[in-house]
Amino acid sequence: MENKRIWLSLAHMGGREQEFIQEAFDTNWVVPLGPNVDAFEKELENFLESKQKHVVALSAGTAAIHLGLVQLGVGPNDEVICQSFTFAASANPITYLGATPVFVDSEANTWNMSPEFLEEAIKDRIKATGKKPKAIIPVHLYGMPAKMDEILAVAKKYEIPVIEDAAEALGSMYKGQKCGTFGEFACLSFNGNKIITTSGGGALVCSTTEEANKTKFYATQARDNAPHYQHSEIGYNYRISNICAGIGRGQMLVLPQRVEQRRKNNRYYKEHLADIKGIRFQTESSTDFYSNYWLTSIIVDPEKTGGVTREDLRLALDKANIESRPLWKPMHLQPVFSGCPYYGNGTSDLLFENGLCLPSGSILMEEDLRRVVEIIKETI
Ligand SMILES: Cc1ncc(COP(=O)(O)O)c(C=O)c1O
Repeated sequence: MENKRIWLSLAHMGGREQEFIQEAFDTNWVVPLGPNVDAFEKELENFLESKQKHVVALSAGTAAIHLGLVQLGVGPNDEVICQSFTFAASANPITYLGATPVFVDSEANTWNMSPEFLEEAIKDRIKATGKKPKAIIPVHLYGMPAKMDEILAVAKKYEIPVIEDAAEALGSMYKGQKCGTFGEFACLSFNGNKIITTSGGGALVCSTTEEANKTKFYATQARDNAPHYQHSEIGYNYRISNICAGIGRGQMLVLPQRVEQRRKNNRYYKEHLADIKGIRFQTESSTDFYSNYWLTSIIVDPEKTGGVTREDLRLALDKANIESRPLWKPMHLQPVFSGCPYYGNGTSDLLFENGLCLPSGSILMEEDLRRVVEIIKETI
């Protein structure tokens, strides 16, 4: 009999989600607002442990980045700096507003935005266009916190607001502070593959009550305060449904265990692949970094593996019915963004070329991890 498929990162229910959904049905709160939405937002605020932050739950993390950019006044002829090594959703909303993304490479330590190339990009864009980029979007990739102190220092120096893309980093911390609380705004994602899910959904973490109210306003078609439907601004339909928020409430009850399980997966891979030459991990470089290890990611060096490439490894895993995935293809290499400015030295190009995400779901059993390790050991 064929082995069951091992997936990269599947949704993992906690068990109480349906109670919150049932309550919504029983009370007819089957709408994009309601008690589950309010409670989910409060629970996220508590989890983030930052009294100043206000969370607005939305239909997607992408919508969150979009509404962050809207509130920073991004528009046509503006530029927004974005980490190049990321998923397209970090950059796409910049283009929704007619602005241009400026891509900044990663540094080798965290695989996230290089503070040095960030500053170089800002200086050069001011020289080239005569004005500052409107925002900076660093990403905590695969859960690994970016070097936020250094990024925020550059942002402060040039007075450019930061939208932190923490879509993959719920539960991660930098210097003991939760990811998602560093920027003027931060995006969270509850897509089906994330550390917790609402099937699809996201949130914008805001720094003030005014920002949170404005986010809700834009997310519900920008209705003016009038008894009839009146609009002075363009709005969006981005609020989360009370049903999805019910799933989120169930998931919040198990979030700490989900983080712990993904970290345990990461430890398992590191321990069991320690003696394989030519594999290195994205890893916490000091106690400043605490990753939720949403996806355990490795770099394969063919010069040390006897010629085995990451693609050889991916195909061998696939043949054994195991899903793995190349690291994100950097945005500056994407056809759709060709022509956008880019600042870097090719660090993310190499990460993409040689990097692989291993199955990392919290739902995986030890025997699943053992199968993955066996195939890697057999192949190298
Ligand atoms: C880095 C990053 N940014 C943004 C998003 C967008 O989130 P969503 O899928 O909820 O729109 C995702 C996930 O999909 C992501 O991985």
